[in-house]
Amino acid sequence: MLDTVTRLEDLALIERRVWNELDHCVHEPAHGWRRAVLASTGPQGADARTVVLREVDIDARELIVYTDTRSPKVVQLQADPRATLVLWWDRLGWQLRLRGEVEVACDGLQVTSRWAALQHRRSAQDYLSPLAPGSDWPDGGLAAGHPRQHFGVLTFRVRQVDWLELREEGHRRACFDARGARWLVP
Ligand SMILES: Cc1cc2nc3c(=O)[nH]c(=O)nc-3n(C[C@H](O)[C@H](O)[C@H](O)COP(=O)(O)O)c2cc1C
Repeated sequence: MLDTVTRLEDLALIERRVWNELDHCVHEPAHGWRRAVLASTGPQGADARTVVLREVDIDARELIVYTDTRSPKVVQLQADPRATLVLWWDRLGWQLRLRGEVEVACDGLQVTSRWAALQHRRSAQDYLSPLAPGSDWPDGGLAAGHPRQHFGVLTFRVRQVDWLELREEGHRRACFDARGARWLVP
């Protein structure tokens, strides 16, 4: 894990630390980057919500998020896969703005294998609601029983990392994408 004193000067080192910390955060519930804001485009314009980062593939530059396949973000991302993930970690003063595309998987091996591992945990309830997220609360309450699961996997392919460091001694910003690594004006 990064210490808070070291101020990295090398762009390649900063990029490597960013990805190592993303990989680390999925195993650390208290890590500032474990919860991120996922922005997409909806029928009324910009839309955003908090999500939990579940897995990171550093080599593929991919992040995995779990969701209810009936949630409005799924329809939005199927219509327009472009998305932004915003993460803030106060301990280091690092913001990440990750731009890329999201692939939605509602079935297939990558869904069934993860559901098999998840289905007996308490968090499985998040994907078992009898009604879709955002539905009006029914007058008689939610029906009991054994509803089927609506578990899905969002794969976020990172095309660009916009890194911002806020420090008393001076803010810094850098961009990492297909054009390479470069410093930006914060
Ligand atoms: C701390 C926190 C973590 C959340 N994690 C997730 C998540 O991993 N996946 C998810 O679909 N929704 C998650 N939610 C709920 C979403 O923020 C959102 O309310 C829900 O998915 C409906 O979003 P939508 O209407 O944009 O589809 C989380 C909410 C909070 C407050």
